[in-house]
Amino acid sequence: MAAAPSPRWEHAVVTGGAGFVGSHLCTALIAEGTAVTCVDDFCTGTPENVAQLAGRPEFSLLRADVTEPFDIARPTDLVLHFASPASPADYLRLPLHTLETGSLGTRNALMLARRHGARFVLASTSEAYGDPQQHPQSESYWGNVNPVGPRSVYDEAKRFGEALTTAEAGVHGTATGIVRLFNTYGPRMRGYDGRAVPTFVRQALAGEPLTVTGDGGQTRSLAYVDDTVRGILAMAASDLPGPVNIGNPDEITMLDLAYKIIELAGSDSTVRFIERPADDPAVRCPDITLARDKLQWEPQISADEGLARTIGWYRGQKAG
Ligand SMILES: NC(=O)c1ccc[n+]([C@@H]2O[C@H](COP(=O)([O-])OP(=O)(O)OC[C@H]3O[C@@H](n4cnc5c(N)ncnc54)[C@H](O)[C@@H]3O)[C@@H](O)[C@H]2O)c1
Repeated sequence: MAAAPSPRWEHAVVTGGAGFVGSHLCTALIAEGTAVTCVDDFCTGTPENVAQLAGRPEFSLLRADVTEPFDIARPTDLVLHFASPASPADYLRLPLHTLETGSLGTRNALMLARRHGARFVLASTSEAYGDPQQHPQSESYWGNVNPVGPRSVYDEAKRFGEALTTAEAGVHGTATGIVRLFNTYGPRMRGYDGRAVPTFVRQALAGEPLTVTGDGGQTRSLAYVDDTVRGILAMAASDLPGPVNIGNPDEITMLDLAYKIIELAGSDSTVRFIERPADDPAVRCPDITLARDKLQWEPQISADEGLARTIGWYRGQKAG
């Protein structure tokens, strides 16, 4: 029998590990032999997202709000800071918690990494580019963010988190990295979290009209979660400070996405146009040259494949 590959890390702490992306990160790390402590306050995530890991000795779940200082006794060589409300519906409902998680939470996660001498990766976002005037967005673009608009609680929290992470590396020498994630979708997104893919899939499976905002001409680029997780772990394994864009440059309008989901779900739903939210970006598409060059990473899963898997998962949830 071939020997199991040695894990890249002995023990990782994943804040926000009971959320959508975090739970996939926990699963991927455990699969490669890394022990994981998931730290989560369940404000938008749930223990069910990591239920499949619950009985495993390499996995621990700690209920804690990272805006309060926290410590982990077990030696740790990787801290992935993913705690933060992420869907517009969530961060508009939790504006102060979002700001505090991006600021105090990032500080506390950085201090944990510093105490352990661990590699630290911050989950930042394409929202750092705001409503971009450069297209596609490369890491050198500084963004176009309204600092007092409704989305600012998220955008500015992440921008502050990036600044704090960069300063931490400069002052204390902590091995930090920043990933700017673009829209990611897949199993375990909540059907009512307000993001386009889970909303459309839920509506298509229920035979309800798909609610497209504005005229549906605004674009997003959608990465399947397995691709995003591979990119994050490649960033963690590197010594790059970032920021590095992780996303799928395959751009699609919201209207085309709605019709694609109707087709893939075999649904007879129609489309209904509703009001577009304030400060909703018109375009969003990553330039992933840096990730390709430095991390040898690029997405591998097409929209058709990823959406089919996602629809299959939601069907299973409905049936279960
Ligand atoms: N999914 C995407 O498309 C996307 C895109 C860009 C960036 N991101 C970033 O990735 C991370 C995860 O996003 P997601 O889509 O999985 O969102 P999610 O809401 O599913 O997960 C976030 C998790 O963080 C937890 N959390 C929030 N505040 C916390 C706190 N103060 N203390 C402890 N736990 C806390 C929540 O309970 C939840 O489990 C976020 O930082 C988000 O900004 C995600």
